[in-house]
Amino acid sequence: MLIRLLRKYLAPYKRWITIIVALQFVATVASLLLPSLNADIIDKGVVTGDTDYIVRIGSIMLAVSAFQVVASISAVYFGAKTAMAFGRDLRSSIFRKVASFSAREMSYFGAPSLITRNTNDVQQVQMLAMMTFTLMVMAPIMMVGGIVMALREDVGLSWLVAVAVPLLAGSLALVISRMIPAYRLMQIRIDTINRVLREQLAGIRVLRAFVREPYETKRFERANQELTDVSLTVGRWMAAMFPIVMLILNLASVAVLWFGGHRIDTGSMEIGALTAYLTYLVQILMSIMMATFTLVMVPRAAVSADRIGEILHTDSSVVPPETGITDVNRHGEVRFVDVEFTYPGASDPVLRDINLTARAGQTTAIIGSTGAGKTTLVSLIPRLFDATSGTVLVNGVNVRELDPDFLWSRIGLVPQNPYLFTGTVASNLRYGKPDATEAEMWRALEIAQARDFVEEMPEGLDAPIAQGGTNVSGGQRQRLSIARALIRSPEIYLFDDSFSALDLGTDARLRSALAAVTTESTVIIVAQRISTIKNADQIVVLDDGAVVGIGTHSELLESCQTYVEIVESQQMAEVPG
Ligand code: CTP
Ligand code: MG
Repeated sequence: MLIRLLRKYLAPYKRWITIIVALQFVATVASLLLPSLNADIIDKGVVTGDTDYIVRIGSIMLAVSAFQVVASISAVYFGAKTAMAFGRDLRSSIFRKVASFSAREMSYFGAPSLITRNTNDVQQVQMLAMMTFTLMVMAPIMMVGGIVMALREDVGLSWLVAVAVPLLAGSLALVISRMIPAYRLMQIRIDTINRVLREQLAGIRVLRAFVREPYETKRFERANQELTDVSLTVGRWMAAMFPIVMLILNLASVAVLWFGGHRIDTGSMEIGALTAYLTYLVQILMSIMMATFTLVMVPRAAVSADRIGEILHTDSSVVPPETGITDVNRHGEVRFVDVEFTYPGASDPVLRDINLTARAGQTTAIIGSTGAGKTTLVSLIPRLFDATSGTVLVNGVNVRELDPDFLWSRIGLVPQNPYLFTGTVASNLRYGKPDATEAEMWRALEIAQARDFVEEMPEGLDAPIAQGGTNVSGGQRQRLSIARALIRSPEIYLFDDSFSALDLGTDARLRSALAAVTTESTVIIVAQRISTIKNADQIVVLDDGAVVGIGTHSELLESCQTYVEIVESQQMAEVPG
């Protein structure tokens, strides 16, 4: 997955990568030349006292260093740029994918994990790309180059390289093999922290009200401790790595000096060659270390890449049609034919044998006890879910065949838990209709019985709305979300329990104002209160996922036992006994 991800998302930057590799090559070759030039200065300049030679080779060395500095700075610059661009592209891909998910995929991954995957996980892969461009590209060139150059200086000491390199590689491999499982665990634990924190922040008021803070604090501390533990394990191995590398490096240096010194004594090696040899050995070992640093990142990035891949390869269960139908002549009729729906993972269907028609110009009410499946029924119309069997038709066309944008533009949905976005009253209303004028907004607010409280706010339409709409009351939030649906004047209105937070008077006023503007539309109202739906053209009584009665208020009083029970229970509540 990691390789596929890198290949796909780095493809647009092939040119830059070529430049990076070329620059790194130049920089590495330059740094490999320096010790050899230095050896020449010592052996041919210093030893013989030839100042001209020292100056000449010295200036060559200066030029080579300058070259090296410029090349490696540019390589790092381009490397960083490419890696960041890669991260950006990947994030935007994930975002677009997630945006296409239906409620089913959302609940499968869960918001916290989706967030970690699009931030932390992308960062891991991006970091690997960056390390690869800056260190990994250099390592093999330096390693091979270093060995070649070292052999050129002196073949007699080559057994040192043969011992030091496997020794270092072996001990690094040991350390890394310990780190991989820890990294895997780390990513999972970051997810956990994210989940705990998110849940607690979202439910902070409830936590306070139920005095659950001590318990939740402990829960967070446990998650935090677990992450700390695994990070410490990784940290310890990481800390062990440096001393190990330094030990081997220094032992090797001492060995070069020791054995090299003997060879100089016997006259088979020169002093300059010895210094050069020392530097090459260090360079070779360094290149192994650089490679290791990058390789350390690989397992963690691979875990992250898999988690990203999971998102990218999950297709929304609500598939938009290839060529959606965008043109239908009837207006707003909604029909359910033999609809059955089962939530993913559930054994029993929540909706069974649903057959009903909501006609344009009529109000269809849906009533039923909590958990009867009302919200589920309504969410099948805009395809928040797809029916597991049977068909939902809008204007006589199966919703699966309609162009999604066309379908949504016909529907004004007021969800049971209305959500408002950070911004202002006006910006939230514009979610309904982007080009809405102020007059249109006020009219929608007026119908939704929201005009009064918006007018009372000092900034009026520009009054700020906090994330989720937490700075207005529940009833105000409901009315603003009704206004948001009204402003687009759709053909189909779906009110999911939208009047429950309103007092009886406001409820009645809202419905009569609504009746005036929805004469041609299909209105589907989910409600709990009989008074809200008494005058509806058609009332659907839902019980445990099945339709147990359809008709007007008076018809149902005659024929439907469940309906009578609901009516009686509400009358009893009204007349305190
Ligand atoms: N359900 C589920 N998974 C979900 C949502 C709901 O399994 N993501 C199940 C619940 O167990 C419930 C049934 O589906 O029993 C119907 O849920 P819903 O349609 O939301 O019921 P409503 O009639 O809307 O209930 P309420 O009046 O409380 O809004
Ligand atoms: Mg509901």
